[in-house]
Amino acid sequence: MSIPKKRLGKMPAGEITDHKLYLNRRQFIKGTAAIATASLLQSSLVRAAETPEPTFTNLVTGNYSTQESSTPFDAVTTYNNFYEFGIDKASPAILAADFPDKIKPWRVTIDGECDKPGEYDYDDLIRPFTLEERIYRFRCVEGWSMVIPWVGFPLADLIKRAQPNSKAKFVQFTTLYDPQQMPGQRRAVLDWPYVEGLRMDEAMNPLTLLSVGLYGRELLGQNGAPIRLVVPWKYGFKSIKSIVNIRFVETLPRSAWMKAGPREYGFYSNVNPNVDHPRWSQSRERRIGELLKRKTELFNGYGDEVAHLYAGMDLKKYI
Ligand code: MTE
Repeated sequence: MSIPKKRLGKMPAGEITDHKLYLNRRQFIKGTAAIATASLLQSSLVRAAETPEPTFTNLVTGNYSTQESSTPFDAVTTYNNFYEFGIDKASPAILAADFPDKIKPWRVTIDGECDKPGEYDYDDLIRPFTLEERIYRFRCVEGWSMVIPWVGFPLADLIKRAQPNSKAKFVQFTTLYDPQQMPGQRRAVLDWPYVEGLRMDEAMNPLTLLSVGLYGRELLGQNGAPIRLVVPWKYGFKSIKSIVNIRFVETLPRSAWMKAGPREYGFYSNVNPNVDHPRWSQSRERRIGELLKRKTELFNGYGDEVAHLYAGMDLKKYI
């Protein structure tokens, strides 16, 4: 993510790590392009070999998985955006190493406009649902992308259990607010807690996942343990991490990023190569682990599944 200038002014410049600097720091790139290629290839092989054993058993292979190669486990778990644990890509893996062990049991409340609200322990929350593996493309608004084998279940399954009433037009999600466990929340980078939202039909779309793991293992802290959203046709910031509340609401929820930069981060934030971010183009993306940029696809390539949700909407207006 990129923080709008008005907020950026409040932060020491040294705290913002761009992609290139990060790669240097991680020693992915060592000088020349030739060496970079060799080292990237080599390190991906090493990392692929280091992918830990899966801990979930009996995962169902879900529909909608891409055939593209998955991004190495090491990259997925060390190059993160999780501002509650720092605004650079490397900090979450370090600062969230023990998260959320210290705050177990993890509780999630489901409330608002529904007939079956409830407060659940994480284990009770997920028990009724069948866990699937879904390999999705994941495109960040900053211009990088990954392919991630998620473990999760359709959000629609949980929504059906909660039985939203006729007033429920949107679903609002909220991340834990706990500045003691989440040092990034001690600074006003965003209006904490992190909030996101979906229109009800987006939330019910079969692509929308509640994820509890990746690469066959439970989510690590840096990836949003113990439960997060994954909405593969939208920019990555919609996929809110470490959720504690799911609320059915009548009016459009204002997300943390809409508050931070309303002109830059809209409610819909569908991946769209034809609508640039005010400060950069969105037409291409860098797949982590690849040297050359590739073209970004409308709805991140999931148009067959989701284009109908936006029929008749001007996607240049409804960003
Ligand atoms: N959720 C919370 N609570 N806080 C965050 O900072 N960052 C978002 C999203 N979810 C974020 C969040 C952004 S910008 C991206 S790109 C994805 O998480 C990154 O997910 P990953 O680190 O698992 O790849």
